[in-house]
Amino acid sequence: MDKYVIDGGRRLFGAVALQSAKNSVLPLLAASILTEKRVVIRDTPQISDVLCMAQILRELGADVRFSGGNTIIESADATSHEISSVLTGELRSPVFMLGSLLTRFHRALIAYPGGCDIGLRPIDLHLNALKQLGVGISERDGCIFCECEKLRGAEILLDFPSVGATENIMLAAVKAEGRTVLAGAAKEPEIVDLQNFLNAMGAKVAGAGSDVIEIEGVQELGSVTYKPMKDRIEAGTFLIACAVCGGEVETSGLKGENLRLLLHKLRENGCKIHTKNDKIRIESSGRLRCNRRIETMPFPGFPTDLQAQATALNAGADGGALIVENLFETRFKYVPELQKMGADIQVKGRNAFVRGVRKLHGASVVAGDLRGGAALVIAALGAEGRTEVLDLSHIDRGYADFRGKLKSLGAEIRRVRV
Ligand code: UD1
Repeated sequence: MDKYVIDGGRRLFGAVALQSAKNSVLPLLAASILTEKRVVIRDTPQISDVLCMAQILRELGADVRFSGGNTIIESADATSHEISSVLTGELRSPVFMLGSLLTRFHRALIAYPGGCDIGLRPIDLHLNALKQLGVGISERDGCIFCECEKLRGAEILLDFPSVGATENIMLAAVKAEGRTVLAGAAKEPEIVDLQNFLNAMGAKVAGAGSDVIEIEGVQELGSVTYKPMKDRIEAGTFLIACAVCGGEVETSGLKGENLRLLLHKLRENGCKIHTKNDKIRIESSGRLRCNRRIETMPFPGFPTDLQAQATALNAGADGGALIVENLFETRFKYVPELQKMGADIQVKGRNAFVRGVRKLHGASVVAGDLRGGAALVIAALGAEGRTEVLDLSHIDRGYADFRGKLKSLGAEIRRVRV
């Protein structure tokens, strides 16, 4: 198991070429089996979640190859509708395989989904919506079995704008008989990306990005070559890292509107932010004020996937902050690790009360989940002295070449085999 050894205190300068969005590429990979024709997803990031998803597609009988940064999927020979527990245990995304498996085979069997250990993560919204599309569902031995004679379009109202459920419904409705109207849909940019991908295959999907998505079922879906959107969470992570360390960093490939609330919060911290076309530039003195309050919300609110990184920033700033986590109830598990670095944070339920200590200090910490792990790396980059971040397997799930990119900005970070 690898670890990072980080010597804090270096300013960060330079440009970051963003990877394609993890949360876009995973549903696109799931969507690839909707057709028997060739699907090419360009610029796929080398992260372990993508490798795991590729393995799942292979298990179904698809041929998946990585070539020149692209992923090529040929699923003409795919015959299986079952995903084993070994693979679902590692990743949550197989849950949206339900939609594409049902479209392709009219049946699906998956083990109960895994992913980061950040809360209950029920899938009731997914299952209720599938029922409305004509799917029969039974649960046994930790597995979910879904079956339908055919999928029928329906009017579906989501009680909560779940990202995964919205995607699943889109995947189940693209070839359903008739029209599906999904109200209360999630509005995340990755859902717009999925709509664009499906339409490029010949689907008729409209409205993504708003809370009503309309899907007119089509008979056939064809071959597609698609370049996914860039990763707004990766961009946010690097912007926060620069804010903490001081310096000047520019990300390219993503418009500021994808991160509006984060950019507002970074200005509150005292950073200068410039956006132009698809570039976001941050200038930071490294001496930051706390945000009074950050509350995670579905898009366009503050992303839960940047909550931990923002808390790390506030932990080393001047003043006090209240961080409210509305999406995942146990998403403060990284806090005891930040406390080892001198952070003054009290967690009560969904709230974290942060008293900024200006400077954190180095320590030996463990990355227990993906974004919490990124937060520890950020804290370490801004801290006095040396930090070891142990267990990089979670960070590897979502950040391609995290060390290389940080190093190119001037960070002192090594990856060491333990
Ligand atoms: C996706 C993202 C994840 C991000 C999250 C919220 C991917 C691969 N992952 O996860 O990085 O943190 O959106 O932006 O895109 N819920 C239910 N019942 C359901 C489904 C969800 O109660 O059937 C609840 C969840 O417990 C959670 C909230 O809804 O409290 C948000 O979940 P959801 O939007 O579905 O997140 P994911 O799709 O799992």
